[in-house]
Amino acid sequence: MKPRILVLYYTQSGQLRDILNSVVHDIKHEAEIDFVNYEPVKPFPFPWTAYTFFDAMPETVERIPSEIKPLPDQVMNKNYDLVIFGYQPWFLNPAQPVTSFLKSKWASILKDKPVVTVVGCRNMWLHGQEKVKEDLQQAGAKLVGNIVLTDTYPNLVSLLTVIRWAFKGQKEASGLLPAAGVQDQDISESKRFGHPILTHLQQNRFDSLQSDLLQKGAVNLKPGLVLLEQRGIKNFRYWAKFIREKGGPLDPNRKARVKLFQRLLMLGIFVLSPLSSLTASVKLQLKKKSLMRDVDYFKGIEYEKGRI
Ligand SMILES: Cc1cc2nc3c(=O)[nH]c(=O)nc-3n(C[C@H](O)[C@H](O)[C@H](O)COP(=O)(O)O)c2cc1C
Repeated sequence: MKPRILVLYYTQSGQLRDILNSVVHDIKHEAEIDFVNYEPVKPFPFPWTAYTFFDAMPETVERIPSEIKPLPDQVMNKNYDLVIFGYQPWFLNPAQPVTSFLKSKWASILKDKPVVTVVGCRNMWLHGQEKVKEDLQQAGAKLVGNIVLTDTYPNLVSLLTVIRWAFKGQKEASGLLPAAGVQDQDISESKRFGHPILTHLQQNRFDSLQSDLLQKGAVNLKPGLVLLEQRGIKNFRYWAKFIREKGGPLDPNRKARVKLFQRLLMLGIFVLSPLSSLTASVKLQLKKKSLMRDVDYFKGIEYEKGRI
């Protein structure tokens, strides 16, 4: 009998679905593969307006779930051998619908299952993955592999293109700017991860899957990202709490604080972050050894509380 694989995901633009399609492309005749796209009852807009985008930050960061549409009975009742869980970070945390799924009763489908996470993002995913690791443990699942696809253009270029994509829906290159998101070639080359996953599944031994995936380049991580995320998440936590004091999602009472956050974030990204990357490069030299240990940890699949 062919092994049964469940591919679970949420996507706004379809990028994550393309990535997942590619990951299983080479094994699709050797396994029975079901794609299941879960969705929130109240959808998020795509493209976004600037206000709805920044207003989504506090609940994403505080990880407050909203309702998820039920998963079909035939999916819930089927006994899968492996789950491939695709997700994307928003504001350095699992996207709001991802958190909502992981904290819902439908997450029971993950119980006792080996899980491979597949991340499709701009380039800041470390804290989000730690939260997903926690939630998988909570759901009784076992993380056995992780693949991360990022936009490999320089940080400020990827920020400009992701903004054009989020607010205009335009992924394609225009003017001087390249296409947004994960590069097409990287999506297509993620086919190389299918066979290692299938081989370990057939042998029912996953202990060396992540090292096999890493050998194939499943995770590229620059040490500077650890510092950047540590700083970013602290700020987001502060602002999330401050905004939520005035009300829940889209509450007019919190509008002034959301707008202030929006302005300061843009200032931080485009003015302060080039400056602070100077101080970060000094820190990088001083803390090189401990940062390299962090890089090894984040490339792996173990979970240690409080690493970020
Ligand atoms: C509200 C929002 C916040 C985002 N925050 C991050 C982030 O913190 N880190 C990151 O690498 N990418 C971030 N992204 C990019 C997403 O992770 C993702 O790559 C992109 O939205 C495409 O996903 P899709 O498959 O849902 O269309 C964000 C996107 C949105 C819409």
